[in-house]
Amino acid sequence: MDYFMAPGRNHLFVPGPSNIPQKVMQALNRGNEDHRSPAFPVFSRQLLADVTRIFSTQSGTPFIIPTTGTGGWECAAVNTLSTGDRVLTFVFGQFSHLWSQQLQKLHFDVDAVQCQWGGGVDLGVLDSKLRADEEHRIKAVCVVHNETSTGININLGVVRAILDLNQHPALLLVDGVSSIGALAFRMDEWKVDVALTGSQKSLGLPTGLGILCASPKALEASKSARSPRGFFDWSAYLKSYELGSYWPYTPSIQLLYGLRAALDLLFEEGLENVIKRHHRLAHATRLAVKAWGLELCVKDPELYSDTVTAVVVPSYLNSTDVVRVAWRKYNLSIGIGLNKVAGKVFRIGHLGFLNELQLISALAGVEMALKDVGFPVKLGSGVAAAQAYLQESTPLIPSRL
Ligand SMILES: Cc1ncc(COP(=O)(O)O)c(C=O)c1O
Repeated sequence: MDYFMAPGRNHLFVPGPSNIPQKVMQALNRGNEDHRSPAFPVFSRQLLADVTRIFSTQSGTPFIIPTTGTGGWECAAVNTLSTGDRVLTFVFGQFSHLWSQQLQKLHFDVDAVQCQWGGGVDLGVLDSKLRADEEHRIKAVCVVHNETSTGININLGVVRAILDLNQHPALLLVDGVSSIGALAFRMDEWKVDVALTGSQKSLGLPTGLGILCASPKALEASKSARSPRGFFDWSAYLKSYELGSYWPYTPSIQLLYGLRAALDLLFEEGLENVIKRHHRLAHATRLAVKAWGLELCVKDPELYSDTVTAVVVPSYLNSTDVVRVAWRKYNLSIGIGLNKVAGKVFRIGHLGFLNELQLISALAGVEMALKDVGFPVKLGSGVAAAQAYLQESTPLIPSRL
């Protein structure tokens, strides 16, 4: 069965991969070229400089690597740590769980603090673990900024404050896969040592680029870090930066042009406006969920994510059925629940290149799917709640003032 045989368009509302904007599609649609020509470094230098803007850093060094978010995790760890180093992680959803597991596979001494799924980093435990660690055996604290499986956004300013309060020198490694480029991310202010994202989320590109940024402290750590590393070794990239060639291996040329277009779109809209738009769409979604009489997976409003909303279904329903019927009947793709919350939550992704009316269509589809699976929803209730808020809060399109 051909997925694209359904008439009309697919409404892609999973929390990544996200919609690819037309301008990005066009930018991707080009042939190969000689990345060792004199023209390519000019393009690359600017691209690398510009990509740091989505991290809000002046001092960070970017790496654009052909990989995915999962590769980004590995890249961050093997460049800054040595085998056997103690690493503190917090597991509060599927991605923080997978990152912890990967760190174990890489033979780090992982202290994985199990937290509630639907909650965030246990800040009390963070504080007590750092305080007890007088010998500074913890070499890194790893935090998923936006836990895509539960719709949780962590306040990294508070995490940083706890590290500072304890005068603890551990590196702060942050997964920003479903936040960077959509939510406020202040690498310098929060003194994040390595931040990473993937191309297929907020940037609206195909999967295939891991985009990392390393602080001066992380670069310094990489000089003495002894984890075995080959493909992901930053030193090859740093050498090519010095040489002005920028790529140690053949880069993914089309994806780099796509990234150029994606960044241009973000800068044209203005990063502050991008963040505000994501907040508007997320708030509208949360209002719809409330109007349906359903609960969010996240209970604490301080932890609300503005890129993904995880919705809990009543125990007599299986959330996967909602996802299935939405796809089969309405050509609407929403996310299933993962691991511990499988069958219990479905997820509405509202990240990337997306506007108010697109969101309304997804909310309408979710409503119908809920009714299809036997949930007594009043059709139009969530849509109306979202509309009322969006009608009031949506600004004029800047180019059409
Ligand atoms: C927060 C987070 N981290 C990491 C990943 C893994 O990224 P990838 O699938 O690109 O390897 C994902 C994927 O959804 C994610 O949401």
